[in-house]
Amino acid sequence: MTTGVAIGLLGYGTVGSAVDRLLRDRATEIERVAGSPVEVRRALVRDVTRARSASPAAGVLTADFATVRDDPTISVVAEVMGGVEPTRGYLLELFAAGKSVVSANKQLLARHGEELFAAAERHGVQLRFEASVCAAIPVVKVLRESMIANDVSGVLGIVNGTTNFILTAMAAGQDYGAALARAQELGYAEADPTEDVNGADAAAKIAILASIAFHTRVTLDDVPFDGIERLEAIDSAIARELGYRIKLIASAERLAGGVTARVHPTLVPEGHPLAAVEGSFNAVMLRGSAIREITLAGPGAGGDETASAVIGDVMTVLGTSGTGFFTHDGYFRQVAIVPEAEVPSAFYLRLDVLDAPGVLAQIARVLADEQVSIESVIQRAAAGRAQLVVTTHPAPEGRFFAAVNGICTLGVVAGEPHVLRVLPR
Ligand code: NAP
Ligand code: HSE
Repeated sequence: MTTGVAIGLLGYGTVGSAVDRLLRDRATEIERVAGSPVEVRRALVRDVTRARSASPAAGVLTADFATVRDDPTISVVAEVMGGVEPTRGYLLELFAAGKSVVSANKQLLARHGEELFAAAERHGVQLRFEASVCAAIPVVKVLRESMIANDVSGVLGIVNGTTNFILTAMAAGQDYGAALARAQELGYAEADPTEDVNGADAAAKIAILASIAFHTRVTLDDVPFDGIERLEAIDSAIARELGYRIKLIASAERLAGGVTARVHPTLVPEGHPLAAVEGSFNAVMLRGSAIREITLAGPGAGGDETASAVIGDVMTVLGTSGTGFFTHDGYFRQVAIVPEAEVPSAFYLRLDVLDAPGVLAQIARVLADEQVSIESVIQRAAAGRAQLVVTTHPAPEGRFFAAVNGICTLGVVAGEPHVLRVLPR
């Protein structure tokens, strides 16, 4: 038994094992800052007999949650196991046992944040979550603390490392499946990568950032999202021809009627800060009344990268007391969520159409009837058919999709329309 600070882990996988290793690798510096050694005393896993690449100290691994919860020497627990249940119940039990928690779990926080923060506050402990959004990038701390003097009007970013890694690989001509497998090997993807590629992971992250930015509760259910599974190589190629890159963009904005948060594959103009973000890197642009705009960029996934943020939060808990202001109800107000149909977007619309007189005019008419203004049109014709690509000026989403439905009933379009959002140049 050491006389230092003992922490518990829920999970000893990609992130948990990296937390343990980094604490040991950086022991001297951490002891200097914390005033005493910090070590992992217990780590909860499913299977203690499973072979692991990392080597926990003898007796650290346990499959019994109560061993972590009831250890009186542990005051802080890092939740790096993921999942919504039983994780949510475990956190509630840890708070009741007087333990602060640091979590990397965006799905849990985006679904049950309100309940969890209230429970932490009730028990006088902290719940910190820097690692839940953009791994190594300290965006939570910047939004919560450094930007408090600002009225934040927008958050725009690439917040999922796996999909950005895949899109970068695909832009270089690699296969989607091979790129996803490599992202899994490198520890970027979730245990089940469905939430990475379908946009749910990014949606949870932007819900968390929107809550902090606008001081109102935004949950996963408030965030419409779409992923990268349906993207085709042709869209990447045409986007490049038009001077754009396709990225999975998460955005949150304050609009006249309230706030909105969403995630979509989007055309980003070359030269835009987000167009240059490659591989597993993430970047987040924050717009504030006093600072205009700042961009934070860095590794958005990976064991060591996430462990770095987890340990940072552990050190903050050890260095502070009380519940932290984000948990106080006074921090929050009620701001309406703007219905998706009213949110303005510019669009890229690719259609497989009949190459015949009047077709383009009919399509333009339907868009005009919905007051959607065309920005550009390109057409590639072959064998009586044409790939028609229309980009639009910003219009309410509901009007644009009403126009797309109208176009599909004209009898000139084959297959599904391909729709992407476009960021302003
Ligand atoms: P992982 O490699 O799959 O590790 C999960 C760990 O939790 C494993 O040790 C597993 O035990 C344990 N575990 C899972 N369910 C459990 C249960 N019901 N009871 C007991 N133990 C359980 O996952 P990870 O990549 O480290 O991610 C962990 C969390 O960090 C997730 O919330 C993820 O979203 C978040 N995160 C990950 C990254 C990243 O780049 N990987 C970045 C940011 C945030 P066994 O070892 O016995 O299977
Ligand atoms: N699977 C997540 C990603 C991990 O790829 O971004 C970081 O939260």
